[in-house]
Amino acid sequence: MNDSIYEVEHPLIQHKLTLMRRKDQSTAVFRQLLREISTLLAYEVTRDLPLTRVKIDTPMEEMHAPVLSGKKLCFVSILRAGNGLLDGMLDLMPSARVGHVGLYRDPESLEAVEYYFKVPHDINERLTIVVDPMLATANSVIAAIDRIKQAGATNIKFVCLLASPEGIEFLHKAHPDVESYTASIDDRLDEHGYILPGLGDAGDRIYGTK
Ligand code: PRP
Ligand code: URA
Repeated sequence: MNDSIYEVEHPLIQHKLTLMRRKDQSTAVFRQLLREISTLLAYEVTRDLPLTRVKIDTPMEEMHAPVLSGKKLCFVSILRAGNGLLDGMLDLMPSARVGHVGLYRDPESLEAVEYYFKVPHDINERLTIVVDPMLATANSVIAAIDRIKQAGATNIKFVCLLASPEGIEFLHKAHPDVESYTASIDDRLDEHGYILPGLGDAGDRIYGTK
């Protein structure tokens, strides 16, 4: 395994992920758990954000206190399942800008097909955090990152819930500059490009469409 991906092994994340994987978990609880895990993953992916100091007055005295510096963040959600991760991240960073890339996986070829694209005009000045719960073949995230690089993004990270070893390798080959964060590196892909042991189809489980 290459070191372009960081598996976040925090016990709270691992416990919540196990609850999500269970096939009898309800849609409402699945969505809520994803939101909670995404907040915890957001904490990890933003660990290196640069700080600057500003002068403030506390009730006691003046101080130079740390605040985030620069233009900060842009999240890019890969529709539709990415929105399940986005919500929890926005809870933590409500003023971040948000872009959307609409992609679905063709069930036969497993190629990503784009149907929507909108990102902030100043994406080139921001740390861009791409979110999608599943890194399977990596076709979707590679296509999304191709597009946001065309739009000017240069500083890009990727956050997913589950990653396959195959997907990690493909993503690293296509975009070696992108650092990824995941709650679990699973075992393998099946013949239909689904992650094993996985959790099934993320979009269907978030939105109850199957
Ligand atoms: C799922 C998932 C990823 C993609 C991962 O989306 O949310 O975007 O598959 O697979 P890949 O790494 O092999 O490309 P899906 O195409 O099912 O669309 P949806 O989010 O609209 O359900
Ligand atoms: N997309 C999903 O939603 N789940 C998988 O296991 C693979 C791709």
